[in-house]
Amino acid sequence: MEKIFINGGIPLKGEVTISGAKNAVLAILPASILARDVCVIENVPKISDVSNMLQILDQLGARTKWIDDTTVEIDSSEVNSYLVSHDMTENMRASYYLIGTLLSRFSRAKVAMPGGCNFGVRPIDLHIKGFRALGADVISKVDGLLDVKAENLHGAWMSLDIVSVGATINIMLAAVHASGTTVIEHAAKEPHIVDLANFLNSMGADVRGAGTDTIKINGVKRLHGCTYSVIPDQIEAGTFMVAAVATRGEVLIKNVITKHLESITAKLQECGAYIEDNDDSILVCCSERPKHCNVKTTPHPGFPTDMQPQMTTLLAIAEGTSVVSEGVWDNRFQYVDQLARMGATINVNGSSATVIGVESLHGAPVKADDLRAGAAMLIAGLAAKGLTTVDNIKFIDRGYVDVVSKFKKLGADIWRGSDDQPNVLGGTA
Ligand code: EPZ
Repeated sequence: MEKIFINGGIPLKGEVTISGAKNAVLAILPASILARDVCVIENVPKISDVSNMLQILDQLGARTKWIDDTTVEIDSSEVNSYLVSHDMTENMRASYYLIGTLLSRFSRAKVAMPGGCNFGVRPIDLHIKGFRALGADVISKVDGLLDVKAENLHGAWMSLDIVSVGATINIMLAAVHASGTTVIEHAAKEPHIVDLANFLNSMGADVRGAGTDTIKINGVKRLHGCTYSVIPDQIEAGTFMVAAVATRGEVLIKNVITKHLESITAKLQECGAYIEDNDDSILVCCSERPKHCNVKTTPHPGFPTDMQPQMTTLLAIAEGTSVVSEGVWDNRFQYVDQLARMGATINVNGSSATVIGVESLHGAPVKADDLRAGAAMLIAGLAAKGLTTVDNIKFIDRGYVDVVSKFKKLGADIWRGSDDQPNVLGGTA
């Protein structure tokens, strides 16, 4: 089984360029089949979740191809199926965006319940409530398929009980052709929601208010193909910002939208980092041991839940005690057991963790429990003294492009290998 090996303790120095946003592109790719035309999507990260999504679109009858390393062409004129079976969805939660998309295109969708990261319960009751408000019948089949059909989708006013990225996206997708106006109150405001709305409008949709609490979608009859460039990945950028501080390095992070990083910047400045905002790049430096601070994750524009494991890892080596409260997911501290193997002192109590900073972590064999926990293990290994091996790296490859070579270019002693040939000479990326 392939692992990532890290000889830690080296300050990261240099420049890294951020790839396209995973959580934007996983909504934009399925949405592209509403064009019934050719769409060219640029700045697409070549990660396994994207490959899985493209495979699903091909199985629905679309013709997808990589034009170059970051550009995908999708011809959806021949899409002829509304069935997305289990084998197509088992390890990717974002497959549920095909429900809203296929409902819009065929007034019917039969989609197997999604897989994805295994922290906390991940219901889709708000998605279903939204589809029903638009006039759809939704039946949960015994074989785990969700069967959704609508004679005619009509606009509706709805308010989400809790802020949900997925429900906001899925309802937007289902409402694009609905007759009349749909209003989503208490909508999610993440950057990827705005990116999807901009993409839909590039295809001729009429979506307004994305990025605010209230999104309005006026149904339109037809959409058309377009060329669209995906925003940079806020969480990948944040991950490198935290890694720069954790290793007391100096890193220029390029191809970012600094507005999307404001909550992360603020927390790292509280930890004593020096941060220079250059609009499409951000310089992060820290020469001292980070200071403690308290963190509460909330929907955007608050501190992102997808940065919680990485930030907690930084606080594990900070001066003093910090409290991290997880405000979005029920059970997103499972990775703490892995950090404890490296010498971290973190006490989890329900949805909050008390982090007692230690001088330094030490290398150990750890594993990625999920995508962002995997990113946290990389940061821990980069900061720790000694050798760390990270197992289950398939989770990391779901959301980070060439992560080993990006850290290697910043001076890290990091490589991929397997236990029986660990490439102790520093290995290859
Ligand atoms: C998206 O998941 C992201 N995934 C997650 O990122 C991210 O953690 C999350 O949004 C929050 O920002 C993708 O975009 C593919 P939610 P999603 O619906 O849409 C509850 C990563 O690492 N809820 O905003 O599934 C839910 O249980 C991944 O990139 C309901 O109760 O998240 C949670 O407590 C991990 N009923 C809260 O809402 C519903 O119908 C927020 O979930 C839907 C959600």
